[in-house]
Amino acid sequence: GLPSRVRIHEVGARDGLQNEQTVVPTEVKAEFVHRLADAGLPLVEATSFVHPKWVPQLADAEELFPRLGDLDPHRLPVLVPNDRGLDRALALGARRIAVFGSATESFAKANLNRTVDEALAMFAPVVRRAKDAGVHVRGYLSMCFGDPWEGPVPLAQTVRVCRALLDLGCDELSLGDTIGVATPGHVQHLLAALNEAGVPTSKLGVHFHDTYGQALANTYAALQHGVTTVDASAGGLGGCPYAKSATGNLATEDLVWMLHGLGIETGVDLDRLIATSVWMADVLGRPSPSRTLRALSHK
Ligand code: HMG
Ligand code: MG
Repeated sequence: GLPSRVRIHEVGARDGLQNEQTVVPTEVKAEFVHRLADAGLPLVEATSFVHPKWVPQLADAEELFPRLGDLDPHRLPVLVPNDRGLDRALALGARRIAVFGSATESFAKANLNRTVDEALAMFAPVVRRAKDAGVHVRGYLSMCFGDPWEGPVPLAQTVRVCRALLDLGCDELSLGDTIGVATPGHVQHLLAALNEAGVPTSKLGVHFHDTYGQALANTYAALQHGVTTVDASAGGLGGCPYAKSATGNLATEDLVWMLHGLGIETGVDLDRLIATSVWMADVLGRPSPSRTLRALSHK
């Protein structure tokens, strides 16, 4: 059966804006995060504490995070790749972080300048120190299904790195289909393989990019398997600058439309969310790919 409630992990301000050519001014980002939180999204991933040369779009994390000081930091996850990033995040009062590993060597190299295992070794002290500070840790895993350089990714390869991230102490995992190639059967096979390897579904979230138009179908497959945490980005913003052929995430509007239609609670006010994404599309000067947004906003 399907769950009665789904927790949406909103990634538009991070995964979305990191991939835009336009560098959005800090005060506009702050308004974006506030509006997403006001629309009822329980978790609004705010920024990344990565090297500013790698992701210049998010180089203003030190300026942005303090502008979100009226929001509960437990609602504002941030990406942290290494000790340096954790120092920066903790200094600003972050309470929820995410490390981000890769199931494939090619993407680990492109995204983190490390092998898969070197990246895990880089995360180990980050997770330990964060947990010691009472900070919640998510472990993203990219290229869980397919990789632009390596093609389809064997289930066992993804399962191994998932287990390793959990063994480091991550509280939850987010299974990334970075380039959007997964299809629903593949999703169910991976979830079943993870269960067989002792990973409880309660620790798993899904993170689908919509490159091939499969994100919503894949989400439905994951819900049927018992997943209740789903990543999405307002207006379908997003992608990843270090993975060719990665386009936007599943649009939060399309996800909310499906979930509410299924009678699944999210806490999200769809009208306020759409108004926010319409506003952001104007800021960026390009239309949103979200079908639900277009249908309901006549854009
Ligand atoms: P590196 O070049 O190997 O870094 O990059 P290093 O450890 O050799 O350090 C080099 C210099 O960078 C040093 O400075 C460090 O202090 C500095 P120097 O001593 O030369 O003056 N440095 C930093 N500065 C600020 N903040 C830091 C930091 N770390 C080192 N945190 C590194 C390694 C991990 C830093 C780099 O590869 C990086 O920043 N990568 C981030 C890439 C990224 O953000 N990608 C997008 C997010 S992942 C994603 O989108 C996928 C996801 O959505 C899921 C999915 O869809 O699959 C999550
Ligand atoms: Mg992503």
